[in-house]
Amino acid sequence: MRQTALRPSAYPIAAIRADFPALHQKVHGKPLIYLDNAASSQKPRQVIETLAEFYAHDYANVHRGVHTLSERATARFEAAREAVRRFLNAKERAEIVFVRGTTEAINLVAQSYCRPRLQAGDEVLISAMEHHSNIVPWQLVCREKGAKLKVAPMNQKGELQLDEFAQLLGPQTRLVAVAHMSNALGTINPVKEICALAHLHGIPVLVDGAQAVPHLPVDVQALGCDFYAFSGHKLYGPTGIGVLYGKRALLEAMPPWQGGGEMIRRVTFEATEYNDLPYKFEAGTPAIAEAVGLGAAIEYLERLGLEAVERHEQELLAYATAKAKEIKGLKIIGEASSKGAILSFTLEGIHPHDVGTFLDHYGIAVRAGHHCAMPVMDFFNVPATTRASFALYNTYEEVDSLMAAIQEIIKVFG
Ligand code: ALA
Repeated sequence: MRQTALRPSAYPIAAIRADFPALHQKVHGKPLIYLDNAASSQKPRQVIETLAEFYAHDYANVHRGVHTLSERATARFEAAREAVRRFLNAKERAEIVFVRGTTEAINLVAQSYCRPRLQAGDEVLISAMEHHSNIVPWQLVCREKGAKLKVAPMNQKGELQLDEFAQLLGPQTRLVAVAHMSNALGTINPVKEICALAHLHGIPVLVDGAQAVPHLPVDVQALGCDFYAFSGHKLYGPTGIGVLYGKRALLEAMPPWQGGGEMIRRVTFEATEYNDLPYKFEAGTPAIAEAVGLGAAIEYLERLGLEAVERHEQELLAYATAKAKEIKGLKIIGEASSKGAILSFTLEGIHPHDVGTFLDHYGIAVRAGHHCAMPVMDFFNVPATTRASFALYNTYEEVDSLMAAIQEIIKVFG
């Protein structure tokens, strides 16, 4: 059960910050202000300590041994899967496949769901705000099968054009793949409506949830999506672990993606009988400790309540946006009415890489570049943006420091 969200006044920002050791350091002599959370977030000590404690006491390979450590490791690995199930409100643990990250999850669906089904002339529909991991896997499989990759447009605010999206759905569409939240713009897409529209045509929907899960409560049953992908490392968990949620009926109909240990029930040289879900898709030794660490990250978020986190970040974003709008020469890229805690911007006449480097000298970590979303940059006709992306531990004071540093950059370069 998800815990009741904390009231805004009760949001324990000081205690939260105390949980994240990496935040308490100086960079170039200045206190670190970490605003690159959309790329990867810092880890609370609860996750760091879980990893160390797991390796120190319970580590062994899973699902294989009859010995005590293997049984303990297996129990903790499967408890992490249960934590993910609860976190996404999936119906059953069998629908939770552990993968390396969002990219691998999307590639799994492209290769195992789409590849056997796609024929020449078929279509896969994505949106104009996808990042490369939700473009290239579809391109690869479409090219091989002579299928077409269709792109639903967005407007100048960075909002998906839902009417045009609906027009692009048709008898040739085999799958829709769309970001829940855009990494470059912050746009939160109306995933529930997208799923409902696609399902009118019997088309399954994959949601790339990499950016959304750290910022808002996700309920895959309420959204109605068929696949949902996310990474552990953006969710305050370890790298190398991610999740593909898939509806049982779809996962069951899909062939294994990779062959090896764990995904089999019986092997002879003539044929192999595959294991049950979700193990059919988990060939080889999985990222065991990383999964356990992801479970700890989820428990950390459950204790805070994602509703409280979302409210805090929304207030921070509103504050940062209002301040940014006061700065002459600053242009916000991505002004969707429904937006997560991302502030992407350009400064007139100053390259984002210079902005990023300058901010680093103030101890402020942001990402400057195309954010693995080159088509989004092309759409807005910019080579790159500077992106400040907020997390549950960021503060108003940090936003003030960011804005003061931007003013300084304009003075120096402008
Ligand atoms: N997709 C990640 C980002 O937005 C890496 O930074």
